[in-house]
Amino acid sequence: MRKVLVINGPNMNMLGIREPEIYGKTTYSQLVDMIKIWASELGFEAEVFQSNHEGDIVDRIQQAYGFFDALVLNPAAYTHTSVAIPDAIRAVGLPAVEVHISDVDSREDFRRISYIAPVCIVSIKGHGIDGYREALEILKKRIIKDGLQIC
Ligand code: DQA
Repeated sequence: MRKVLVINGPNMNMLGIREPEIYGKTTYSQLVDMIKIWASELGFEAEVFQSNHEGDIVDRIQQAYGFFDALVLNPAAYTHTSVAIPDAIRAVGLPAVEVHISDVDSREDFRRISYIAPVCIVSIKGHGIDGYREALEILKKRIIKDGLQIC
């Protein structure tokens, strides 16, 4: 079975508590459960990782090399500041999709800047937690298109 690594950045562990008017009421542990179910429906095995530390996210992306087939990333605030995270994605060369629960383009100006968008197949913004499911669907299509049939 193909393996996908889903990475969530700082404060994503506060989902459900954190600004529910922006990020919704689903808790982080409910999100993790849903990602795993959606992934298995699409023929993926998902591992979900969250960290509040940029270097830990870089380490996890590097460790994915040779063990995972694809990445889904919501680097949260590091989206708008990190050069190390996109460098790590480029280094491992895995197909990646960027997800943001909120519509970052209609919020503060600084949220319109994404350093990881250029290294991702697509960026999904403002679709709530469904964005993670859409990311998995896109990665499934990409893997099939590249001839790497999911079994
Ligand atoms: C976020 C958007 C970011 O701007 C913010 O810093 C986050 C969450 C989102 O999922 O909408 O922490 O990535």
